Amino acid sequence: MAMRSKSEACCILWMLVALCCFAAARTASAEGRIDDHLQLNGGFGSVSEDGQILSLLLNHSSGSGFKSKDTYMYARANLQIKLAPNNSAGTVTAFYFMSVGAWDIHDEIDMEFLGNSTGEPYTLHTNIYVNGTGRKVEQFRLWFDPTADFHTYSIVWTYRHILMLVDGTPIREFRNHANRDVLYPSKQPMRLFGSLWNTDDWATQGGRVKTDWSAAPFIAWFRNYTATTSSSDGYGYYDQEMDGAARKKMKEARAKYMIYTYCADTTRSPTPPECSMP
Ligand SMILES: *[C@@H]1O[C@H](CO)[C@@H](O)[C@H](O)[C@H]1NC(C)=O
Ligand SMILES: *[C@@H]1O[C@H](CO)[C@@H](O)[C@H](O)[C@H]1NC(C)=O
Ligand SMILES: *[C@@H]1O[C@H](CO)[C@@H](O)[C@H](O)[C@H]1NC(C)=O
Ligand SMILES: *[C@@H]1O[C@H](CO)[C@@H](O)[C@H](O)[C@H]1NC(C)=O
Ligand SMILES: *[C@@H]1O[C@H](CO)[C@@H](O)[C@H](O)[C@H]1NC(C)=O
Repeated sequence: MAMRSKSEACCILWMLVALCCFAAARTASAEGRIDDHLQLNGGFGSVSEDGQILSLLLNHSSGSGFKSKDTYMYARANLQIKLAPNNSAGTVTAFYFMSVGAWDIHDEIDMEFLGNSTGEPYTLHTNIYVNGTGRKVEQFRLWFDPTADFHTYSIVWTYRHILMLVDGTPIREFRNHANRDVLYPSKQPMRLFGSLWNTDDWATQGGRVKTDWSAAPFIAWFRNYTATTSSSDGYGYYDQEMDGAARKKMKEARAKYMIYTYCADTTRSPTPPECSMP
């Protein structure tokens, strides 16, 4: 059904495009529909007819979200996201793993995009909660306009480490130092969530810039969700130490694009122990 309408739409355009259409249809069917794996979770989300794009909408009535149908005990999740353009101040688009049990002891691994006024950059805000406690924030500037096109964001969560990547470039690693008394999320399965909601009490320039509801609805687009687990191919690769080249890439990206790390926050005392662990 989805494949047929895609092919029809393409082929009306030009006979010569038929070959391309064939290739596109094959890719789509190989990957399936996004809602085979993700389900809408409140608010005004929707899935395109061909099943390739999930959109979340935020307006004055509500934000919206989705969650993975599966729960994971370690996984690598990849998702392509295109963020709401223009004046997105006060909005937060989020992509995160979260445990499904009791809230006061929950684990969470966040990549959140804090909106901004037209022409001002989004902030990529990351955090890790273990057993209900977060305060491990690192923030980044992106090196491209995340509203102009889809980009791939990845969260790797294995027993060894948590890794966050943007278009394949690692930007943050949080290693499992449980053997040195640093809490690590290793006891509760998690689901992958996405959401778009209003947080103009803190998101943009510390809450000074409020959401402009005349610009609503705000829409963010998601596609090509993949989750690799220990029982599927390719997972083992991410559960290894990063090689020298990946480590160098991460170091360079952090030097250029990181704008905040809790490890260098002088208002935090004492410095959290993991900050001085290799
Ligand atoms: C928000 O969007 C939903 C879905 O399109 C619509 O039903 C609702 O009326 C909208 N609310 C406002 C305040 O615009
Ligand atoms: C948002 O920006 C795009 C391109 O930058 C422009 O085409 C569109 O008209 C803008 N929308 C609004 C509501 O300003
Ligand atoms: C996790 O949090 C709970 C509730 O705050 C606490 O009782 C428990 O000791 C914590 N567990 C660890 C391993 O710190
Ligand atoms: C928004 O833009 C301002 C000015 O460029 C910048 O200081 C701020 O970090 C940006 N991001 C957020 C989320 O406020
Ligand atoms: C979908 O994601 C996978 C894994 O990240 C990637 O290998 C593939 O190239 C992506 N497909 C498209 C059409 O972007």
